[in-house]
Amino acid sequence: MAKFLSIFTMRNLLVLSLALNLSLIMRVFLDGEKQGFFFSVEQRGPSMGEDKEAHATQRTLQSVSSSSGQEGMEKVINLDHGDPTMYEKYWMMMGERTTVVIPGWHSMSYFSDVKNLCWFLEPEFAKQVFRLHRVVGNAVTEGRHIVVGTGSSQLILAALFALSPKDGSEPMSVVSTAPYYSSYPVMSNHLKSGLYVWAGDTRSFNKEGPYIELVTSPNNPDGFVRHSMVNRTGGILVHDLAYYWPQYTPISSPADHDLTLFTVSKATGHAGTRIGWALVKDAEVAKKMVKFIELNTIGVSRDSQLRAAKILEVMTNTTEIGCSDSGESFFEIIYHLMAERWRLLQAAVNNGSMFSLPDFAPGFCHFLQQETQPQPAFAWLKCEDDAVEDCESFLKGHKILTRGGRSFGVSPKYVRISMLDRDINFSLFLKRLSIIQS
Ligand SMILES: Cc1ncc(COP(=O)(O)O)c(C=O)c1O
Ligand SMILES: *[C@@H]1O[C@H](CO)[C@@H](O)[C@H](O)[C@H]1NC(C)=O
Ligand SMILES: *[C@@H]1O[C@H](CO)[C@@H](O)[C@H](O)[C@H]1NC(C)=O
Ligand SMILES: *[C@@H]1O[C@H](CO)[C@@H](O)[C@H](O)[C@H]1NC(C)=O
Ligand SMILES: *[C@@H]1O[C@H](CO)[C@@H](O)[C@H](O)[C@H]1NC(C)=O
Ligand SMILES: *[C@@H]1O[C@H](CO)[C@@H](O)[C@H](O)[C@H]1NC(C)=O
Repeated sequence: MAKFLSIFTMRNLLVLSLALNLSLIMRVFLDGEKQGFFFSVEQRGPSMGEDKEAHATQRTLQSVSSSSGQEGMEKVINLDHGDPTMYEKYWMMMGERTTVVIPGWHSMSYFSDVKNLCWFLEPEFAKQVFRLHRVVGNAVTEGRHIVVGTGSSQLILAALFALSPKDGSEPMSVVSTAPYYSSYPVMSNHLKSGLYVWAGDTRSFNKEGPYIELVTSPNNPDGFVRHSMVNRTGGILVHDLAYYWPQYTPISSPADHDLTLFTVSKATGHAGTRIGWALVKDAEVAKKMVKFIELNTIGVSRDSQLRAAKILEVMTNTTEIGCSDSGESFFEIIYHLMAERWRLLQAAVNNGSMFSLPDFAPGFCHFLQQETQPQPAFAWLKCEDDAVEDCESFLKGHKILTRGGRSFGVSPKYVRISMLDRDINFSLFLKRLSIIQS
């Protein structure tokens, strides 16, 4: 057995991982077959990379699997946050390639690059960001300043600070089209800033004067491609493109805006590294964003930037080097995993009349060179049953935690559900949807 396993290569494992698809995992669950597909595949992990984490995961999977077989209904499934743990499987398979070792005497200074407008930006991180956008083709980087942030969350605040006039007679209005990302209203208002204030849904916004419109595309929570809506003089746009990556949506053309935000949380799944970046055209705006980060955190963790740089490097490398034949291409593998999750979710939802999902139109993805379907990081589920007014409470009654429509400025008939949890919890979720509908 050991000999057999040792002849497996990384390539075999990755191909295998695609085969290890959710239909099979589902079957294991539904049949209650405890010695199923899960462990037999997971056990191959360590033999590939001699990876301690893989061993740990194997143990976790075994314990969860054996305790969730029949009694699965008792378990609370928390799909409220968009915690991208689904991505662990891919990075585990990349083994040591993304390991970063930082000696104790490294990166001690506050300063990364004093010659750069963004003096706390690690040159290696900037290099990998440019390289990744060039390979994926999702953003124009020529003539842009990169501002790195502690997640794109910090950059949203930095942008609001930079774009609001300092001597305005009243706070600048911040708007977005509902359903909008639930953090925008809270972020805009939590410090009761005199500079800016949340002004709600673009569709009901009719105040004269300057405003900032946050354009999220594809959108969180519903996954649709978005353009600016208000379209009046004095409007300043911030494009939050956290999900503009080929695993979620067709890459139609390189984004070419004044201020665009990205984050590793949604691109690679490294939410805990807390690194985001802004591509900013106007140097004055970029300087003000840098000023905000200076006042807020005096820069951004250099250690995190170095780790993020390494992860982006490997991501780009697997994509660049004849991706389809190596079987390691990050975007292709995650694209297929997402496609499979969406196929299974749609099958479960369409198997009854309680719920519905948005209808998406396919588009041509210039990165994957084929027509692809949007397959968002969140499912925007509607409770169709007339008896259910509050979908979040209804699902909570079935021990599924989601985020209700009201948080996004719309009806409580909707909920947002993370599609990025680990396989085991996603399968449990599908199983529970089927039971609710039966
Ligand atoms: C649209 C959007 N923007 C920004 C963020 C913040 O991401 P982070 O601070 O992890 O980079 C999120 C996270 O869910 C998001 O969905
Ligand atoms: C997953 O397995 C099912 C059959 O069990 C198959 O129809 C489907 O094509 C597979 N999907 C992928 C992405 O390999
Ligand atoms: C599944 O979800 C539960 C509840 O959120 C969590 O405690 C558990 O760690 C998850 N299991 C895995 C393997 O992610
Ligand atoms: C408003 O937006 C639409 C659609 O993007 C565009 O066609 C139109 O020219 C815009 N109008 C103004 C005044 O900018
Ligand atoms: C990525 O590719 C470059 C150029 O092909 C190579 O020099 C570098 O070592 C690779 N990095 C990793 C981490 O594999
Ligand atoms: C569809 O519903 C039937 C009957 O309730 C059930 O046996 C089956 O597993 C369901 N299929 C899916 C994909 O949910």
